[in-house]
Amino acid sequence: MREVRSVAVIGAGTMGSGIAQLAAASGFGVTLVDVDLGLAERGCANIERRLARAVERGQLTAEEREQALARVRPAAGVDAAAQADFVVEAVVEDLEVKKATFRALDALVGEDVVLATNTSSMSITEIGAATRRPERVVGMHFFNPAPVMRLVEVIHGYATHPDTVAAAMDLARRLGRTPIEVRKDSPGFIVNRILIPLIIEACKVVEEGLATAEDVDTAITLGLNHPMGPLTLLDFTGVDVNQYVMDYFFSEFRQPQYATPRLIRELVRAGRLGRKVGHGVYDYDPATGRRLPPA
Ligand SMILES: NC(=O)c1ccc[n+]([C@@H]2O[C@H](COP(=O)([O-])OP(=O)(O)OC[C@H]3O[C@@H](n4cnc5c(N)ncnc54)[C@H](O)[C@@H]3O)[C@@H](O)[C@H]2O)c1
Repeated sequence: MREVRSVAVIGAGTMGSGIAQLAAASGFGVTLVDVDLGLAERGCANIERRLARAVERGQLTAEEREQALARVRPAAGVDAAAQADFVVEAVVEDLEVKKATFRALDALVGEDVVLATNTSSMSITEIGAATRRPERVVGMHFFNPAPVMRLVEVIHGYATHPDTVAAAMDLARRLGRTPIEVRKDSPGFIVNRILIPLIIEACKVVEEGLATAEDVDTAITLGLNHPMGPLTLLDFTGVDVNQYVMDYFFSEFRQPQYATPRLIRELVRAGRLGRKVGHGVYDYDPATGRRLPPA
């Protein structure tokens, strides 16, 4: 397998720019690709802003910031990834867009180059099957914000070769992350597989009138030492996004425990999609985004 000195990150949004930042700060040459140069440059500007904040906080020297920035090159279109030693895809969560991206990358980069996807829900096996090198395709699930969250789930697709998994684990470690190996491709991998039932049960407890939403969140934050209660997290990540994931889990596992709770469907129908719109399980102050006390 090729030695990794340069990484191409495809998609310069929330996750792509975070992964590119990590790679640049860890000494890799990075090509940050989006559909047009403006979007790739916006991703670079976000990296620049976050690194400037890290310098202000004393986490980085001004020199380290300059060196990291000098390692990132914004580019338009996947062709710019041709020379990369390793590719991490972080385009939109749309299976057809991902398959088309992998098909294009497959035709472009060296046969010994690993193609990793940062999908949070889609099948690694199906994405790998869009290429002629499914043994070199692997899941690398970073968490948001990527430069802060230390976990990376490294996921086998059906045909992924163990050397490919080892290369992804190694890269994650070189990026200062802690990788865990997910030995089979399965919806939600590990973290979301465990988190989603927690959120579903929290909704059911409220629906059944056992406790208020606030008290359920207090129970989990104080009783289990979670930094955020499950219903606060539901609003934070988006009620509609959670509904999508629950519906996907239910369609794949076909088990009632994954059925989307009525509370979630009602919130989505009412347009209460969470913090991003100012209303979800809770209400938020439009000016500050802070949670308002219950009415
Ligand atoms: N946001 C999260 O919390 C989170 C966490 C873990 C994983 N993910 C996954 O990471 C991926 C990216 O999510 P995000 O939140 O960064 O999305 P985003 O919408 O912020 O960014 C996606 C970027 O991909 C670009 N893009 C779309 N098609 C492209 C193409 N063909 N070639 C190059 N660039 C293209 C878009 O222009 C956009 O800039 C998704 O698969 C998502 O499920 C997201």
